[in-house]
This record gives sequence, C-alpha cells and structure tokens, in this order.
Amino acid sequence: MRHLEIKKNIYWVGAVDWDLRNFHGYLTERGSTYNAYLIVDEKIVLVDTVKHYLFDEMLERIKKVVDPARIDYVISNHTEMDHSGCLPRIFEIAKDATLICSPNGEKGLKRHFKKDWTFKVVNTGDTVNIGRRDLKFVLTPMVHWPDSMATYIPEEKLLLPNDAFGQHIATSERFTDEIGWDIVREEAAKYYANIVLPFGAQVRKALETVGSLDIDMIAPSHGLIWRKDIKEIIACYKKWSSNTCDNKAVIIYDTMWHSTEKMACVIKDVFEEKGIRCTMRYLGTNHISNIMKDVLESRYICVGSPTLNNGILPTVSAFLTYMKGLAPKDRTGIAFGSYGWGGQGIVEIEKSFEMCKFQVPLKGLRIQYIPGDDDLSNLKNEINRVVS
Ligand code: FEO
Repeated sequence: MRHLEIKKNIYWVGAVDWDLRNFHGYLTERGSTYNAYLIVDEKIVLVDTVKHYLFDEMLERIKKVVDPARIDYVISNHTEMDHSGCLPRIFEIAKDATLICSPNGEKGLKRHFKKDWTFKVVNTGDTVNIGRRDLKFVLTPMVHWPDSMATYIPEEKLLLPNDAFGQHIATSERFTDEIGWDIVREEAAKYYANIVLPFGAQVRKALETVGSLDIDMIAPSHGLIWRKDIKEIIACYKKWSSNTCDNKAVIIYDTMWHSTEKMACVIKDVFEEKGIRCTMRYLGTNHISNIMKDVLESRYICVGSPTLNNGILPTVSAFLTYMKGLAPKDRTGIAFGSYGWGGQGIVEIEKSFEMCKFQVPLKGLRIQYIPGDDDLSNLKNEINRVVS
C-alpha cells in the first residue's frame, strides 16, 4: 500500500474506504477517505487515525516510514470515531506516546475509550515544538463537534483542519488538482451542506483565524488535499457559512396520484421563464443528502406534498426533519400540495419553513384533487408574484 510524502518528511498514512455508501445517513456515492498524517522530526507525530476497521491499512503505511512504536505524539483533532477509532490500537503499540487534544477532546476521548492514556491538553495559540517544527493549535469548536481543533505547522505553511474543507471521495490520487475543481467542489459543497451547515457562526470565527495564517496546503481528514485553489475553497466556506445563496430554486416533492407533481412542474416553468436556474428533486428517486447540496446554494426552497392522514408523505417529512437539523437560513420557502378533503399537509411544511426562519411570502398553495387548467394558471400567477 502506497503512503505519500506530501511535504518533506510529512506523510499521508490514511486509509481509503472505497465501498462506504452511508456516513451516518449521508449518501457517500464516491466512498470516503480517512486521512492520517505522520510527521517525522526529532519527535514522531501521528495526526489523527482512521476508522477502526481500516487500522491495518494505516499501520502498514506508517511502517513504511517509521517503526510505529517510536511515535511520540498522537494528535486527536476530533473525537468522532472515523478519526479516533484506531487510538486504542495505536496506544497498544506506541505505549509511551502522549495524546494531544483540546479540553473537550480530553473529555470526549475519556468518555469514548475509558483509557488511562497520557493527555496533553492544548488551547488556541498553544505550541508544541517537535524539533525543526512547531505545532500550533487552533480550537474550532462545532466544526464539527465541540472538541474539534486544527493543527497548523508554520514552517511548512500546512494546515491540518480535520473535518473542515473535507470531501467524501475515495481515490488513488491524494491532491484535489489531480481530480479537478468541478468534482472536488461539488463534493466539498455536499460535505459542507450535510456536515458543517448548522455551524456557520463557528465556521466564520474559525475562518477569521485561518485567514491570518500563511497557508500553502490544507490537508483535511476526508478526501483530497488542497495545494491549489486554496483561496477558492476558503471563499466557498465564507460564502456558505454566511448563508449567501445564488438566485436559484430547488423544488423538492413527492406525489401520490401526480397532482402535486403537476403543481411542481408549473412552479418549475415559472422559474425557467424568469431565467432562474431550477432543479427538480422528486423524493422517490433523490437522496435527502444530495438534495441538501441544492438547498445550500438555492435561494428558493419549494417543498410539495399531498395531504396524507392529516399530514404529509413520510418521504417529505423525513426530508424536512433532516433539513431542519441542518438549519439553513435566509431563504424563501414555498410550500405546495394537493389534497382530497382536509388539506392540512401544507401547514406542516409551512411550519418547518418557519422553524428555519425562511421567508414564506405565499401561504396555502393547495389544490383539491386533480389540478385543472384554471387551478394551474392561478398557481402560476401566485408564484410569479413572489419570484424575481
Ligand atoms: Fe470526520 Fe466529524 O468526523
């Protein structure tokens, strides 16, 4: 198995999870990568580990560089088990190593593993010298968990930010420029929408610190390493974390007897006639984690469901639950749907929009039974009124 020197005496020693398709509910169609890094200096440092079932892969890569028993420091930038999963087995080998983590990292790792390891707790601004290099630490709470932090090596202009700037991609290549901006940006956006989106305020704070660092490489814990397009991906994070979206629309719907589908098509026509890019996402064929990427970048979020048993279809309910948890803000919500007699379903969608603090300029866009030409014409007029 190939390890890779990404900077002089700094190696990628992670693992590639080619077959991963579900990362706690996130559809990872391209698999994923757990990136661990080995720094060889007067001290030997392992930055993060990999998921527990890929331990042998990581260990084989480490062994190609050093005897893993010689590891002096293990940095845990994040407690989540895709990065901490191999700590117990590493400490069985590197018995005298010290575990460096944030204050919340210490609490989390002790709760997770219940091991009496030697901890060194660091805070923002703390430095650990390892010989020719300094390791500097920046706490990045909630990007992705309260314990998250980044490690920065000023001599190398290298930032190791763990989950931030990651993408779920399994590849033989290690650098983003070997794959191309379009694919990597798409996966970085999907990753942001499904993992980082609720923590915009914390991301903006972390970006203030990152903006003051001299960086020529960002090596995240998932996917490919950024040695090009660094300004571009930081600009994307600034945009996404400030809830700035494009003048685009996404129409998310399910349908029982095609009536709500007819409404969705008319709404799409209005956006297209106004020259606004619009994406249709039928919940029967689209995964909610893919739809969240559209939500991240769209100003108009249109959600449709027929009324079923005084509520909405379970697919629409699942999507709204997922979206509310990810808490996008500053968008315009348009709820619509068909009904037979009660018509309460649409109210449920509107309530979800209100919980997200979306603007809801139209209420009650419902049509009874099969939409007629007049119904659809009225719907078109209503949508035209609020879309610009
Ligand atoms: Fe990749 Fe939040 O763990």
